[in-house]
Amino acid sequence: MDFDSILRKIKPTQKDKEKVENLSNKIIKQLNTIIKDEKIDSEAVLLGSIAKDTWLKGKADIDIFLTFSLNTSQEDLKKYGLKIGHKCIDNLKGKCEERYASHPYVTGFIGGYSIDIVPCYKINDGDQIKSAVDRTLLHTKYIKKNISKKQTDEVLLLKKFMESIETYGSESKVGGFAGYLCELLILKYDTFCAVLKAASKWKKHTIIDLENYGTGKQFNDPLIVIDPVDKNRNVAASLSLQKMAEFMAASRNFIKEPKLEYFEKTEKFTELKDIITLFNIKSTETYVVSFKPPKIPEDTIYPQLRKTERSLASKLTKEGFIIFKTSSWTDSENLAIILIEVASKNISGYKNYTGPRIWDENHQEKFILKHNTIPWIEGEYWLVKVSTTDNIEELIKNLFKPENIHYLKVGKNIKNQLLNEYSIMEIKEFLSNNQLSIDLLEFLSDFLIPGKNLFR
Ligand code: CTP
Ligand code: MG
Repeated sequence: MDFDSILRKIKPTQKDKEKVENLSNKIIKQLNTIIKDEKIDSEAVLLGSIAKDTWLKGKADIDIFLTFSLNTSQEDLKKYGLKIGHKCIDNLKGKCEERYASHPYVTGFIGGYSIDIVPCYKINDGDQIKSAVDRTLLHTKYIKKNISKKQTDEVLLLKKFMESIETYGSESKVGGFAGYLCELLILKYDTFCAVLKAASKWKKHTIIDLENYGTGKQFNDPLIVIDPVDKNRNVAASLSLQKMAEFMAASRNFIKEPKLEYFEKTEKFTELKDIITLFNIKSTETYVVSFKPPKIPEDTIYPQLRKTERSLASKLTKEGFIIFKTSSWTDSENLAIILIEVASKNISGYKNYTGPRIWDENHQEKFILKHNTIPWIEGEYWLVKVSTTDNIEELIKNLFKPENIHYLKVGKNIKNQLLNEYSIMEIKEFLSNNQLSIDLLEFLSDFLIPGKNLFR
Protein backbone atom coordinates (compact mmCIF):
# COMPACT_ATOMS: atom_id res chain seq x y z
CA MET A 1 0.00 0.00 0.00
CA ASP A 2 1.34 3.40 -1.00
CA PHE A 3 1.02 5.28 2.31
CA ASP A 4 3.19 8.14 1.00
CA SER A 5 0.51 9.12 -1.50
CA ILE A 6 -2.03 9.29 1.33
CA LEU A 7 0.34 11.28 3.53
CA ARG A 8 0.84 13.79 0.73
CA LYS A 9 -2.87 14.52 0.94
CA ILE A 10 -3.36 14.57 4.69
CA LYS A 11 -0.10 15.99 6.03
CA PRO A 12 0.01 19.78 6.44
CA THR A 13 2.62 21.40 4.19
CA GLN A 14 5.26 23.80 5.48
CA LYS A 15 3.01 26.61 4.27
CA ASP A 16 -0.04 25.22 6.09
CA LYS A 17 2.03 24.97 9.25
CA GLU A 18 3.33 28.51 8.97
CA LYS A 19 -0.19 29.85 8.54
CA VAL A 20 -1.45 28.06 11.65
CA GLU A 21 1.65 28.98 13.64
CA ASN A 22 1.35 32.65 12.71
CA LEU A 23 -2.29 32.77 13.73
CA SER A 24 -1.64 30.83 16.96
CA ASN A 25 1.24 33.14 17.89
CA LYS A 26 -0.87 36.20 17.18
CA ILE A 27 -3.68 34.93 19.42
CA ILE A 28 -1.33 33.89 22.22
CA LYS A 29 0.37 37.29 22.10
CA GLN A 30 -3.01 39.01 22.25
CA LEU A 31 -4.13 36.82 25.16
CA ASN A 32 -0.95 37.44 27.13
CA THR A 33 -1.25 41.20 26.53
CA ILE A 34 -4.81 41.16 27.93
CA ILE A 35 -3.64 39.06 30.89
CA LYS A 36 -0.88 41.59 31.62
CA ASP A 37 -3.14 44.64 31.20
CA GLU A 38 -5.82 43.17 33.46
CA LYS A 39 -3.16 42.08 35.99
CA ILE A 40 -4.44 38.49 36.01
CA ASP A 41 -2.16 35.67 37.16
CA SER A 42 -2.30 33.42 34.10
CA GLU A 43 -0.47 32.43 30.91
CA ALA A 44 -1.67 31.39 27.44
CA VAL A 45 -0.05 28.27 25.94
CA LEU A 46 -0.58 26.28 22.74
CA LEU A 47 -1.58 22.63 23.36
CA GLY A 48 -3.44 19.85 21.52
CA SER A 49 -2.63 18.42 18.12
CA ILE A 50 -1.15 21.64 16.68
CA ALA A 51 1.43 21.71 19.47
CA LYS A 52 2.06 17.97 19.02
CA ASP A 53 2.32 18.21 15.21
CA THR A 54 -0.35 15.53 14.85
CA TRP A 55 -3.11 17.53 13.11
CA LEU A 56 -4.71 16.61 9.83
CA LYS A 57 -4.48 19.03 6.92
CA GLY A 58 -7.63 21.15 6.67
CA LYS A 59 -8.66 20.25 10.22
CA ALA A 60 -6.68 22.75 12.26
CA ASP A 61 -8.59 23.34 15.43
CA ILE A 62 -6.32 25.45 17.59
CA ASP A 63 -6.30 24.50 21.29
CA ILE A 64 -5.05 27.34 23.47
CA PHE A 65 -5.11 26.93 27.24
CA LEU A 66 -5.01 29.67 29.87
CA THR A 67 -3.10 28.22 32.79
CA PHE A 68 -3.96 29.43 36.30
CA SER A 69 -2.07 28.66 39.51
CA LEU A 70 -3.54 25.96 41.77
CA ASN A 71 -4.66 28.44 44.43
CA THR A 72 -7.04 30.21 42.00
CA SER A 73 -10.70 29.59 42.90
CA GLN A 74 -12.94 27.74 40.42
CA GLU A 75 -15.05 30.88 40.22
CA ASP A 76 -12.13 33.13 39.25
CA LEU A 77 -10.85 30.56 36.75
CA LYS A 78 -14.25 30.51 35.04
CA LYS A 79 -14.77 34.27 35.20
CA TYR A 80 -11.31 35.29 33.96
CA GLY A 81 -11.18 32.46 31.40
CA LEU A 82 -14.33 33.70 29.67
CA LYS A 83 -13.42 37.37 30.00
CA ILE A 84 -9.94 36.95 28.49
CA GLY A 85 -11.23 34.67 25.73
CA HIS A 86 -14.05 36.99 24.65
CA LYS A 87 -11.86 40.07 24.72
CA CYS A 88 -9.14 38.42 22.64
CA ILE A 89 -11.45 37.21 19.90
CA ASP A 90 -13.28 40.56 19.85
CA ASN A 91 -9.97 42.44 19.53
CA LEU A 92 -8.98 40.21 16.60
CA LYS A 93 -12.41 40.78 15.00
CA GLY A 94 -13.41 37.13 15.13
CA LYS A 95 -16.73 35.52 16.01
CA CYS A 96 -17.29 34.01 19.46
CA GLU A 97 -19.26 31.17 21.00
CA GLU A 98 -19.33 29.71 24.51
CA ARG A 99 -18.89 25.96 24.90
CA TYR A 100 -18.56 23.58 27.80
CA ALA A 101 -16.05 20.92 28.87
CA SER A 102 -15.95 20.51 32.67
CA HIS A 103 -16.40 24.34 32.72
CA PRO A 104 -17.38 26.96 30.13
CA TYR A 105 -14.81 28.23 27.65
CA VAL A 106 -14.70 30.39 24.54
CA THR A 107 -14.42 29.18 20.97
CA GLY A 108 -13.44 31.81 18.42
CA PHE A 109 -13.65 31.73 14.65
CA ILE A 110 -10.99 33.62 12.72
CA GLY A 111 -10.09 33.24 9.05
CA GLY A 112 -11.65 29.79 8.69
CA TYR A 113 -9.99 28.41 11.83
CA SER A 114 -11.71 27.54 15.08
CA ILE A 115 -9.82 28.41 18.25
CA ASP A 116 -10.65 26.96 21.67
CA ILE A 117 -9.53 29.12 24.56
CA VAL A 118 -9.80 26.90 27.63
CA PRO A 119 -8.92 27.91 31.22
CA CYS A 120 -7.17 25.22 33.27
CA TYR A 121 -5.02 24.70 36.35
CA LYS A 122 -1.27 24.57 35.88
CA ILE A 123 -0.42 21.12 37.23
CA ASN A 124 2.88 19.25 37.17
CA ASP A 125 1.53 15.85 38.10
CA GLY A 126 -1.67 13.87 37.44
CA ASP A 127 -2.38 13.76 41.21
CA GLN A 128 -2.85 17.54 41.31
CA ILE A 129 -5.68 17.59 38.79
CA LYS A 130 -8.60 19.86 39.76
CA SER A 131 -10.59 19.90 36.51
CA ALA A 132 -10.76 17.33 33.70
CA VAL A 133 -9.06 19.60 31.16
CA ASP A 134 -5.94 20.09 33.34
CA ARG A 135 -4.34 16.91 32.03
CA THR A 136 -4.05 18.37 28.52
CA LEU A 137 -0.92 20.26 29.58
CA LEU A 138 0.71 17.00 30.66
CA HIS A 139 -0.60 15.08 27.61
CA THR A 140 1.00 17.55 25.23
CA LYS A 141 4.32 17.36 27.10
CA TYR A 142 4.22 13.54 27.18
CA ILE A 143 3.51 13.13 23.49
CA LYS A 144 6.07 15.73 22.41
CA LYS A 145 8.70 14.02 24.54
CA ASN A 146 7.98 10.46 23.43
CA ILE A 147 6.86 10.54 19.81
CA SER A 148 9.28 10.33 16.87
CA LYS A 149 8.86 12.24 13.60
CA LYS A 150 8.10 9.01 11.77
CA GLN A 151 5.44 8.16 14.35
CA THR A 152 3.64 11.50 13.86
CA ASP A 153 3.05 10.39 10.25
CA GLU A 154 1.67 7.10 11.54
CA VAL A 155 -0.69 9.07 13.84
CA LEU A 156 -1.97 10.99 10.82
CA LEU A 157 -2.71 7.76 8.93
CA LEU A 158 -4.51 6.33 11.94
CA LYS A 159 -6.55 9.51 12.52
CA LYS A 160 -7.52 9.67 8.84
CA PHE A 161 -8.53 5.99 8.76
CA MET A 162 -10.56 6.48 11.94
CA GLU A 163 -12.17 9.61 10.54
CA SER A 164 -13.14 7.87 7.27
CA ILE A 165 -14.74 4.90 8.99
CA GLU A 166 -16.35 7.32 11.48
CA THR A 167 -14.78 6.07 14.67
CA TYR A 168 -12.79 9.27 15.37
CA GLY A 169 -13.75 11.74 18.06
CA SER A 170 -14.42 11.25 21.76
CA GLU A 171 -17.45 13.57 21.95
CA SER A 172 -20.46 11.64 23.18
CA LYS A 173 -22.31 12.03 19.87
CA VAL A 174 -19.63 9.78 18.33
CA GLY A 175 -18.21 7.85 21.30
CA GLY A 176 -15.09 7.10 19.26
CA PHE A 177 -11.31 7.40 19.65
CA ALA A 178 -9.86 10.71 20.90
CA GLY A 179 -6.82 12.20 19.16
CA TYR A 180 -4.71 11.55 22.27
CA LEU A 181 -5.85 7.92 22.26
CA CYS A 182 -4.66 7.53 18.64
CA GLU A 183 -1.28 8.93 19.66
CA LEU A 184 -0.97 6.50 22.56
CA LEU A 185 -1.87 3.57 20.29
CA ILE A 186 0.97 4.56 17.95
CA LEU A 187 3.38 4.85 20.91
CA LYS A 188 2.32 1.36 21.97
CA TYR A 189 2.40 -0.41 18.60
CA ASP A 190 4.70 1.93 16.64
CA THR A 191 3.02 1.95 13.20
CA PHE A 192 -0.44 2.41 11.70
CA CYS A 193 -0.42 -1.15 10.33
CA ALA A 194 0.70 -2.59 13.66
CA VAL A 195 -2.18 -0.81 15.44
CA LEU A 196 -4.67 -2.35 13.01
CA LYS A 197 -3.10 -5.80 13.38
CA ALA A 198 -3.22 -5.58 17.16
CA ALA A 199 -6.76 -4.16 17.16
CA SER A 200 -8.04 -6.98 14.99
CA LYS A 201 -7.10 -9.33 17.85
CA TRP A 202 -8.20 -7.19 20.80
CA LYS A 203 -10.31 -8.89 23.45
CA LYS A 204 -12.97 -7.18 25.53
CA HIS A 205 -11.24 -5.27 28.40
CA THR A 206 -7.83 -5.24 26.66
CA ILE A 207 -5.44 -3.23 28.83
CA ILE A 208 -2.72 -0.98 27.39
CA ASP A 209 -0.45 0.39 30.09
CA LEU A 210 2.51 2.21 28.54
CA GLU A 211 4.08 3.18 31.89
CA ASN A 212 3.35 -0.17 33.57
CA TYR A 213 1.36 1.35 36.42
CA GLY A 214 -0.61 -1.87 36.90
CA THR A 215 -3.86 0.02 37.54
CA GLY A 216 -5.86 -1.43 34.63
CA LYS A 217 -7.89 -3.89 36.68
CA GLN A 218 -9.93 -1.14 38.35
CA PHE A 219 -11.67 -0.35 35.04
CA ASN A 220 -14.48 -2.26 33.41
CA ASP A 221 -14.53 -0.45 30.04
CA PRO A 222 -14.30 -2.37 26.74
CA LEU A 223 -10.83 -0.92 26.08
CA ILE A 224 -8.54 0.27 28.87
CA VAL A 225 -5.66 2.59 28.05
CA ILE A 226 -4.04 3.87 31.23
CA ASP A 227 -3.18 7.54 30.90
CA PRO A 228 0.62 7.79 31.14
CA VAL A 229 0.21 11.08 33.02
CA ASP A 230 -2.53 9.88 35.41
CA LYS A 231 -2.51 6.24 36.50
CA ASN A 232 -6.16 6.41 37.63
CA ARG A 233 -7.64 7.49 34.33
CA ASN A 234 -8.68 5.37 31.39
CA VAL A 235 -8.07 7.44 28.23
CA ALA A 236 -10.51 5.14 26.40
CA ALA A 237 -13.32 5.65 28.96
CA SER A 238 -15.43 7.54 26.43
CA LEU A 239 -14.92 4.92 23.69
CA SER A 240 -18.15 2.98 23.22
CA LEU A 241 -18.19 -0.78 22.72
CA GLN A 242 -19.91 -0.05 19.39
CA LYS A 243 -17.08 2.13 18.03
CA MET A 244 -14.38 -0.19 19.37
CA ALA A 245 -16.07 -3.09 17.55
CA GLU A 246 -16.51 -1.09 14.33
CA PHE A 247 -12.81 -0.16 14.36
CA MET A 248 -11.84 -3.80 14.93
CA ALA A 249 -14.06 -4.97 12.06
CA ALA A 250 -12.71 -2.34 9.64
CA SER A 251 -9.14 -3.20 10.73
CA ARG A 252 -9.68 -6.88 9.92
CA ASN A 253 -11.17 -6.00 6.55
CA PHE A 254 -8.35 -3.58 5.72
CA ILE A 255 -5.67 -6.15 6.62
CA LYS A 256 -7.36 -8.72 4.41
CA GLU A 257 -7.65 -6.33 1.49
CA PRO A 258 -5.96 -2.93 1.90
CA LYS A 259 -7.62 -0.25 -0.24
CA LEU A 260 -7.10 3.48 -0.57
CA GLU A 261 -10.86 3.89 -0.14
CA TYR A 262 -10.45 3.20 3.58
CA PHE A 263 -9.00 6.70 3.79
CA GLU A 264 -12.06 8.31 2.21
CA LYS A 265 -15.52 8.78 3.61
CA THR A 266 -18.30 6.74 2.05
CA GLU A 267 -21.15 8.60 0.39
CA LYS A 268 -24.41 8.94 2.27
CA PHE A 269 -27.92 9.47 1.02
CA THR A 270 -28.75 13.13 1.54
CA GLU A 271 -31.70 13.47 -0.85
CA LEU A 272 -35.06 13.25 0.87
CA LYS A 273 -36.55 11.20 -1.97
CA ASP A 274 -33.82 8.54 -1.58
CA ILE A 275 -34.38 8.35 2.17
CA ILE A 276 -38.12 7.95 1.61
CA THR A 277 -37.55 5.21 -0.98
CA LEU A 278 -35.23 3.33 1.36
CA PHE A 279 -37.75 3.43 4.20
CA ASN A 280 -40.48 2.38 1.74
CA ILE A 281 -38.71 -0.76 0.60
CA LYS A 282 -38.21 -1.92 4.19
CA SER A 283 -40.78 -4.40 5.33
CA THR A 284 -40.58 -2.99 8.85
CA GLU A 285 -42.21 0.08 10.36
CA THR A 286 -40.30 2.96 11.92
CA TYR A 287 -41.67 5.38 14.50
CA VAL A 288 -40.19 8.70 15.54
CA VAL A 289 -40.51 10.30 18.97
CA SER A 290 -39.53 13.95 18.59
CA PHE A 291 -39.22 16.87 21.00
CA LYS A 292 -37.29 20.07 21.63
CA PRO A 293 -33.95 19.24 23.28
CA PRO A 294 -33.17 20.80 26.67
CA LYS A 295 -30.63 23.62 26.79
CA ILE A 296 -27.68 21.59 27.99
CA PRO A 297 -24.35 20.83 26.27
CA GLU A 298 -24.48 18.31 23.42
CA ASP A 299 -22.08 16.05 25.31
CA THR A 300 -24.68 15.76 28.10
CA ILE A 301 -27.75 15.29 25.89
CA TYR A 302 -26.50 12.30 23.93
CA PRO A 303 -25.96 9.94 26.89
CA GLN A 304 -29.45 10.88 28.16
CA LEU A 305 -31.05 10.27 24.76
CA ARG A 306 -29.36 6.89 24.43
CA LYS A 307 -30.35 5.86 27.96
CA THR A 308 -34.00 6.72 27.18
CA GLU A 309 -33.80 4.94 23.83
CA ARG A 310 -32.38 1.73 25.39
CA SER A 311 -34.96 1.72 28.15
CA LEU A 312 -37.83 2.30 25.71
CA ALA A 313 -36.59 -0.51 23.47
CA SER A 314 -36.33 -2.91 26.39
CA LYS A 315 -39.82 -2.04 27.67
CA LEU A 316 -41.36 -2.44 24.21
CA THR A 317 -39.61 -5.80 23.82
CA LYS A 318 -41.01 -6.92 27.18
CA GLU A 319 -44.46 -5.93 25.96
CA GLY A 320 -44.08 -8.27 22.99
CA PHE A 321 -42.92 -5.97 20.18
CA ILE A 322 -40.12 -7.14 17.90
CA ILE A 323 -37.62 -4.30 17.78
CA PHE A 324 -35.08 -4.29 14.93
CA LYS A 325 -33.15 -1.15 15.60
CA THR A 326 -33.29 2.06 17.61
CA SER A 327 -31.19 5.19 17.39
CA SER A 328 -31.24 8.83 18.49
CA TRP A 329 -30.10 12.19 17.17
CA THR A 330 -30.27 15.85 18.09
CA ASP A 331 -29.13 19.19 16.71
CA SER A 332 -28.99 20.39 20.36
CA GLU A 333 -31.17 23.40 19.52
CA ASN A 334 -34.52 22.65 17.93
CA LEU A 335 -35.00 18.95 17.49
CA ALA A 336 -34.24 15.69 19.29
CA ILE A 337 -35.51 12.35 17.98
CA ILE A 338 -35.60 8.71 18.98
CA LEU A 339 -36.18 6.24 16.13
CA ILE A 340 -37.74 2.85 16.73
CA GLU A 341 -37.88 0.27 13.95
CA VAL A 342 -40.37 -2.44 14.68
CA ALA A 343 -41.60 -5.58 12.86
CA SER A 344 -45.21 -4.54 13.20
CA LYS A 345 -46.95 -1.62 14.89
CA ASN A 346 -49.63 -3.88 16.40
CA ILE A 347 -49.33 -7.02 18.41
CA SER A 348 -52.29 -9.16 19.14
CA GLY A 349 -52.96 -12.44 20.87
CA TYR A 350 -51.77 -13.22 24.35
CA LYS A 351 -48.84 -12.27 26.49
CA ASN A 352 -47.48 -13.02 29.95
CA TYR A 353 -48.08 -10.24 32.42
CA THR A 354 -45.77 -10.12 35.44
CA GLY A 355 -47.40 -9.30 38.76
CA PRO A 356 -46.10 -8.79 42.29
CA ARG A 357 -43.51 -10.94 44.02
CA ILE A 358 -44.37 -13.76 46.41
CA TRP A 359 -43.10 -11.71 49.39
CA ASP A 360 -45.89 -9.17 49.03
CA GLU A 361 -49.13 -10.75 50.25
CA ASN A 362 -51.25 -7.60 49.95
CA HIS A 363 -50.41 -7.04 46.33
CA GLN A 364 -50.85 -10.72 45.62
CA GLU A 365 -54.46 -10.52 46.79
CA LYS A 366 -55.19 -7.47 44.64
CA PHE A 367 -53.48 -9.02 41.63
CA ILE A 368 -55.45 -12.27 41.86
CA LEU A 369 -58.73 -10.40 42.30
CA LYS A 370 -58.05 -8.07 39.38
CA HIS A 371 -57.25 -10.79 36.83
CA ASN A 372 -60.16 -13.07 36.38
CA THR A 373 -58.06 -16.13 35.50
CA ILE A 374 -55.70 -18.51 37.29
CA PRO A 375 -52.26 -16.97 37.79
CA TRP A 376 -49.10 -19.02 38.25
CA ILE A 377 -45.65 -18.54 39.77
CA GLU A 378 -42.27 -18.32 38.08
CA GLY A 379 -39.46 -17.94 40.58
CA GLU A 380 -40.57 -15.24 42.98
CA TYR A 381 -43.07 -13.62 40.57
CA TRP A 382 -46.78 -14.08 39.98
CA LEU A 383 -47.69 -14.28 36.31
CA VAL A 384 -50.93 -14.20 34.43
CA LYS A 385 -51.87 -14.64 30.77
CA VAL A 386 -53.68 -11.62 29.33
CA SER A 387 -55.03 -10.88 25.91
CA THR A 388 -53.39 -7.99 24.12
CA THR A 389 -54.04 -5.78 21.15
CA ASP A 390 -51.33 -3.22 21.76
CA ASN A 391 -50.52 -0.50 19.32
CA ILE A 392 -47.00 0.89 19.58
CA GLU A 393 -48.07 4.55 19.43
CA GLU A 394 -50.70 4.04 22.13
CA LEU A 395 -48.28 2.15 24.32
CA ILE A 396 -45.58 4.83 24.06
CA LYS A 397 -48.11 7.59 24.74
CA ASN A 398 -49.19 5.67 27.82
CA LEU A 399 -45.62 5.24 29.01
CA PHE A 400 -45.01 8.97 28.72
CA LYS A 401 -47.78 9.72 31.25
CA PRO A 402 -46.81 10.93 34.74
CA GLU A 403 -48.20 7.79 36.39
CA ASN A 404 -46.23 5.46 34.07
CA ILE A 405 -42.97 7.19 33.22
CA HIS A 406 -41.29 5.42 36.15
CA TYR A 407 -41.38 2.20 34.09
CA LEU A 408 -38.68 3.79 31.92
CA LYS A 409 -35.16 4.97 32.68
CA VAL A 410 -35.39 8.42 31.17
CA GLY A 411 -32.54 10.98 30.95
CA LYS A 412 -33.20 13.50 33.72
CA ASN A 413 -33.18 16.61 31.51
CA ILE A 414 -35.53 15.18 28.89
CA LYS A 415 -38.15 13.76 31.25
CA ASN A 416 -40.14 17.00 31.21
CA GLN A 417 -40.29 17.10 27.42
CA LEU A 418 -41.52 13.51 27.27
CA LEU A 419 -44.25 14.29 29.78
CA ASN A 420 -45.37 17.55 28.22
CA GLU A 421 -44.36 18.25 24.67
CA TYR A 422 -43.40 15.55 22.26
CA SER A 423 -44.88 13.97 19.19
CA ILE A 424 -44.84 10.45 17.95
CA MET A 425 -45.49 9.53 14.34
CA GLU A 426 -44.60 7.13 11.59
CA ILE A 427 -41.35 7.97 9.78
CA LYS A 428 -42.99 8.97 6.47
CA GLU A 429 -45.22 11.47 8.22
CA PHE A 430 -42.19 12.81 10.10
CA LEU A 431 -40.21 13.18 6.87
CA SER A 432 -42.95 15.16 5.19
CA ASN A 433 -43.61 17.37 8.23
CA ASN A 434 -40.10 18.53 9.03
CA GLN A 435 -37.35 20.63 7.53
CA LEU A 436 -34.47 18.15 7.44
CA SER A 437 -30.89 19.36 7.88
CA ILE A 438 -28.01 17.63 6.09
CA ASP A 439 -26.82 16.26 9.42
CA LEU A 440 -30.22 14.69 10.07
CA LEU A 441 -30.40 13.23 6.54
CA GLU A 442 -26.94 11.72 7.06
CA PHE A 443 -28.05 10.27 10.37
CA LEU A 444 -31.08 8.70 8.66
CA SER A 445 -28.81 7.35 5.91
CA ASP A 446 -26.64 5.69 8.61
CA PHE A 447 -29.75 4.29 10.24
CA LEU A 448 -30.81 2.74 6.95
CA ILE A 449 -27.37 1.32 6.06
CA PRO A 450 -25.58 0.76 9.36
CA GLY A 451 -22.75 -1.44 8.04
CA LYS A 452 -21.52 0.74 5.22
CA ASN A 453 -18.36 1.95 6.97
CA LEU A 454 -16.90 -1.44 7.65
CA PHE A 455 -16.20 -2.53 4.08
CA ARG A 456 -14.72 -0.79 1.06
N1 CTP B 1 -8.53 15.35 25.61
C1 CTP B 1 -8.55 14.19 26.39
N2 CTP B 1 -9.55 13.30 26.29
C2 CTP B 1 -10.57 13.53 25.45
C3 CTP B 1 -10.60 14.67 24.65
C4 CTP B 1 -9.55 15.56 24.75
O1 CTP B 1 -7.65 13.98 27.18
N3 CTP B 1 -11.56 12.64 25.40
C5 CTP B 1 -7.41 16.31 25.76
C6 CTP B 1 -6.16 15.83 25.06
O2 CTP B 1 -5.04 16.19 25.84
C7 CTP B 1 -6.20 16.56 23.76
C8 CTP B 1 -6.80 17.90 24.16
O3 CTP B 1 -7.73 17.57 25.19
O4 CTP B 1 -4.92 16.69 23.19
C9 CTP B 1 -7.48 18.65 23.03
O5 CTP B 1 -8.59 17.91 22.56
P1 CTP B 1 -8.88 17.72 21.00
O6 CTP B 1 -8.73 18.99 20.29
O7 CTP B 1 -10.15 16.98 20.92
O8 CTP B 1 -7.72 16.67 20.58
P2 CTP B 1 -6.36 16.88 19.78
O9 CTP B 1 -5.31 16.01 20.44
O10 CTP B 1 -6.03 18.30 19.65
O11 CTP B 1 -6.69 16.22 18.37
P3 CTP B 1 -7.47 16.86 17.10
O12 CTP B 1 -7.81 18.26 17.42
O13 CTP B 1 -6.50 16.73 15.98
O14 CTP B 1 -8.66 16.00 16.89
MG1 MG C 1 -7.40 19.74 18.87
